[in-house]
Amino acid sequence: MILVWLNGFIWLGKQIDPSTKYPNEVEYHYARYCAGCHGNSGEGNGRIGRFKKLDPADLTDNTLWSMHEDEQLLNSIRDGKNDMPAFHYYLSVDEQEELLEYIKKSFRP
Ligand code: HEC
Repeated sequence: MILVWLNGFIWLGKQIDPSTKYPNEVEYHYARYCAGCHGNSGEGNGRIGRFKKLDPADLTDNTLWSMHEDEQLLNSIRDGKNDMPAFHYYLSVDEQEELLEYIKKSFRP
């Protein structure tokens, strides 16, 4: 009895918040919501994107950045675009803006 109970505590103690793996919230958000399609390096080669043949945008492609204003990109993140889902259900406006800054800083050539 006691052993089972103790085990439960040890198990609980091991459940760490996944966000602690990332240095800050925006990196966690990217990993959780975007990397599946756009890939860890932003090249649009994430697992889901490849598997479902969605052709996610290559965030390291300069034409993407030169052809779009921030406002348009934010619209796409908020409301979705073709095969990209809308994120206003999951992320606040501030968080969406942080993500845009983050992908710009990390992937824009
Ligand atoms: C289910 C796959 C999927 C996920 C998850 C996803 N995207 Fe996308 N994303 C796409 C696809 C597909 C496109 C290309 C849309 C098009 O131009 O037809 C795209 C395009 C974009 C673009 C270019 C938009 C434009 O206006 O041309 C940006 C910026 C972007 N994604 C950022 C993000 C961010 C930030 C996240 C995480 C919050 C994210 N994406 C999550 C699939 C995804």
